[in-house]
Amino acid sequence: MTISTIRGFHDILPGETEKWQYIEKTAREILESFNFSEIKIPLLEKTELFTRSIGNGTDIVEKEMYTFLDRRGDSLTLRPEATASIVRAYIEHNFCKTNPVLKLFYLGPMFRYERPQKGRFRQFHQINAESFGVAGPKMDGEVISLCFNFFRKIGLDDLHLQINSLGCPQCRAGFKKELKNFLTKKMTDLCSDCQRRVEINPLRNLDCKNEKCREIVLNAPSIANFLCEDCSIHFQEVKQSLASLEIPFQVNPKIVRGLDYYTRTAFEINSPLLGAQDAVAGGGRYDNLVKDLGGPAIPAIGFAIGWERLVSLLSQKDQNFQRPLEIFIASLSKNAMEEAYKLTNQLRHIGVKVEMSYEEKSLKSQMRKADKLSSCFVLIIGEKELEEKTVILRNMKNKSQEVIDRKEIVSEI
Ligand code: HAM
Repeated sequence: MTISTIRGFHDILPGETEKWQYIEKTAREILESFNFSEIKIPLLEKTELFTRSIGNGTDIVEKEMYTFLDRRGDSLTLRPEATASIVRAYIEHNFCKTNPVLKLFYLGPMFRYERPQKGRFRQFHQINAESFGVAGPKMDGEVISLCFNFFRKIGLDDLHLQINSLGCPQCRAGFKKELKNFLTKKMTDLCSDCQRRVEINPLRNLDCKNEKCREIVLNAPSIANFLCEDCSIHFQEVKQSLASLEIPFQVNPKIVRGLDYYTRTAFEINSPLLGAQDAVAGGGRYDNLVKDLGGPAIPAIGFAIGWERLVSLLSQKDQNFQRPLEIFIASLSKNAMEEAYKLTNQLRHIGVKVEMSYEEKSLKSQMRKADKLSSCFVLIIGEKELEEKTVILRNMKNKSQEVIDRKEIVSEI
């Protein structure tokens, strides 16, 4: 019996990997231009890191974490997201003191035990950016514009940016109270998860995926009516920053995000081309998380882009990401194959993408192989070419052919 991948986990195959590389290269370019530095973090963390940051009562913590006991009996979790780990690293390596204003990015896989469907996987990849140490709204504008401009740079523009302010713990307390009153009246119509959440974390009722619960919360009180003066001013200035950077956005008071650590600005970027799982990026400010995880009070804001969803959008465009094979070397005798072997190696050393035939086959069969590999040129070496130190250079596009000196191959191509 053969062994297949685990449900919700996927291989990424040649043909697809080139899109991933293109995305990674573009992400690195733009992140570095915004002065973000790369951090690498472990896949496994202590479970407590996620329960304390993402929050009890969230879908991720309640239902979606890959949590297990190791051989010592310690509870460990495959990270469901990267923000908590990056904050842990920021505190652990004392950046709070040595380098508090810091921009970090991270690329890698995350794990959530969700029901797999189109655009939703159990192992998926994110591009994360986190900016520490600046509380002012200009940083919100900058981080959101970085995320939005990344999509533009990749060549995607049919995307909708929605923003909201979730206020601070002070203004949110009044909102939570009103929300709880509203939900208590609808208690019997809510799903069992939501009935429980009304008591422990009513904000999480707002992102329940159950159809009936979604309908109920459409009429729930809106956080927009509860923002304190400071939070209102902050939100106003975030909107101004985005306008000044010419980033189109919509305010959506229903954006609450599924993680507990957010304060003030929250945002999502959605694509109408993705179906039900249409969020291609999400993020926001988390001014209390560094402190909640044991560090000093340092504000921060960041986002994560869903890599698979981005690849799916790129796949809808008619664009080839694969570097073509530049040269295929065909040889017409055993001696010619020895020469082809050396020449292949020399050309690869100077960065040319080359393939050759490793078996003595007819020229026809080798040309078929070159065609299958979509090679731009074929070099043919026979006994005559060996003697004269030449090769036959065939242009596979216009089918023209010429004899050239072997030393001239590179300049000729
Ligand atoms: P999130 O909204 O949970 O935020 O995830 C960000 C993005 O990851 C989503 O918009 C989506 O594109 C992708 N994603 C999430 N779950 C899946 C899945 N099961 N399958 C495929 N793609 C998925 C966070 O993770 C926060 N840590 C973002 C953040 C960073 N906030 C501040 N800094």
